[in-house]
Amino acid sequence: MIILGIETSCDETAVSLLKARGQKITVLANVVASQIDIHKQYGGVVPEVAARHHVLNMLPVLDQALVQAGLERSTAFKKIKTIAVTVGPGLITSLLVGLETAKTLAYAHRLPIVPVNHIAGHIYANALSQKMKFPCLALTVSGGHTMLVLMTGHGRYQTIGNTLDDAAGEALDKAAKLLGLGYPGGPAISAQAALFKKTNSTGLTFPRPLSEKDNFNFSFSGLKTALLYQVQKDPDWPHKIPEYCYQYQQAIIDSLISKTIRAAQKHKVKSVILAGGVSANQELREQFAKRLQQELPLAKLSIPELNYTTDNAAMVAAAGYFNFKQGAKTNWSQIAVDPNLNL
Ligand code: KG4
Ligand code: ZN
Repeated sequence: MIILGIETSCDETAVSLLKARGQKITVLANVVASQIDIHKQYGGVVPEVAARHHVLNMLPVLDQALVQAGLERSTAFKKIKTIAVTVGPGLITSLLVGLETAKTLAYAHRLPIVPVNHIAGHIYANALSQKMKFPCLALTVSGGHTMLVLMTGHGRYQTIGNTLDDAAGEALDKAAKLLGLGYPGGPAISAQAALFKKTNSTGLTFPRPLSEKDNFNFSFSGLKTALLYQVQKDPDWPHKIPEYCYQYQQAIIDSLISKTIRAAQKHKVKSVILAGGVSANQELREQFAKRLQQELPLAKLSIPELNYTTDNAAMVAAAGYFNFKQGAKTNWSQIAVDPNLNL
């Protein structure tokens, strides 16, 4: 079956078409119109601006996706079986553009809609390249979320850990702003961190919050404050940006990996999934694979391909496909967005 996916929860307007059968998924089209260059000048996403650009981008992105998939606009919707759309969590004005588009298409072409949770979408980015093995533990790290989710089957989620304050991506974005590296912070911090040579170390280090605590929660706002105090007492910091970035990034990576491994051991999972925009981080990907191999050699690690780590609609369509198979299809008139939607 062919599924149309639509994602507009933050600042990416994304449309994808998937062909799916059993566990096998083929991406026919994946188009993402990023607004990074627009929001960069404000140092972060401005919700009203994002929504207006979603309105401008939506139909061109949809058209481009149909062309990429080799579908004629006049007949495409006869071949599409359902429309999967992100309904939350996210920015309400952004979510509305995607959902209203999905509703209009569903009404016009008499198609069912499958509502998709954005976090589930990130997790299902992994289903695009491999079969999911349950029970599995998913670490979802993005600009808005840092969650440990235990899954016992498709669509069966239990959140066992969460951030108590900032998300990991948010901590990277805020640190980059403080160090004058621009937005988004994750790629900027990781590029600077890669320039650090350990032989030049000045001994700088940052805390690993909650690492001793016997639960699976995270906290990153203290790390950001530690960076601020460090910068205030070190007039030489502009000459040590690679070291600052390396150590700050490493503190986040250590917190993420150690909690995830502990949770995976406790719940005896068969696979561990990494998901969300921060999973684009090369150091996190490599260190995660290494530590998991050492400490949980029997668990299978799944990391999404790079172009499916940050927001996209292929992941939404993939989550929608498995929801659809479980009967989660709804008439267009019965769906609403929920900016605080839980898994
Ligand atoms: O999943 P995503 O695109 O949007 C949300 O759902 O929030 O994640 C965006 C986050 C931002 O905080 C960004 O700085 C971070 O992912 N990010 C990265 C990298 N690429 C994006 N963080 C670390 N390393 C990267 N290469
Ligand atoms: Zn996201």
